Amino acid sequence: MLSQDDLKRAVAAAAIAYVPADCIVGVGTGSTANMFIDELAKIKHKIRGAVASSEASAKRLQAHGIEVFSLNDAGEMPVYVDGADEITRHLHMVKGGGGALTREKIVASCSQKFICLCDASKLVDVLGKFPLPIEVIPMARSGVARQLIALGGQPKLREGFTTDNGNIILDVHGLQIMNPVELESALDHIAGVVTNGLFARRAADVLLLGTPEGVKTYTV
Ligand code: 5RP
Repeated sequence: MLSQDDLKRAVAAAAIAYVPADCIVGVGTGSTANMFIDELAKIKHKIRGAVASSEASAKRLQAHGIEVFSLNDAGEMPVYVDGADEITRHLHMVKGGGGALTREKIVASCSQKFICLCDASKLVDVLGKFPLPIEVIPMARSGVARQLIALGGQPKLREGFTTDNGNIILDVHGLQIMNPVELESALDHIAGVVTNGLFARRAADVLLLGTPEGVKTYTV
């Protein structure tokens, strides 16, 4: 029987077909993104390099001898490849389980195509079972938490965790996200919120879903 890691590895390998020759690739963060980085290493002579969405991914890319560019030097990229914590058939996502949501959203926004890599357990009808990560400026923690409660969520501080940008994460439990585009915008308007983990306004363009029957491709 295939494990969750086997399914992640299969989608990571399938994603290589979406990487054009001679390009700079946007690279996500997490265990699936790590497998993609390992696949990218096999074709590193065919690409110029990568932009990383976290310090951890930058280190892994460099360890493979893949050049890491700053986003400002790279310009617009053809593809951004990353995992997700939950995804719907509309390719709306919850991300940020690894705490890299802000840089992920920035690098994704500078890429023409977002290729999302998930094992079958991540595909859901309604987002929100996975607690929604929100990156918050530390001094705004209590104020933001009160507003999240008013929106019907139960925020919990991610203990002992600081983002690459020096901020905290509030994980919001108990949300049933029926309108992710609206909620993403509403959360962005709370003072002190840096980024929320809903990726709905800019959804994925392609989902490669690892299933026991093979890799399935979804587009909108
Ligand atoms: C990190 C992320 C990851 O893409 C998400 O948490 C999925 O991780 P994994 O591939 O380890 O299941 O958003 O901030």
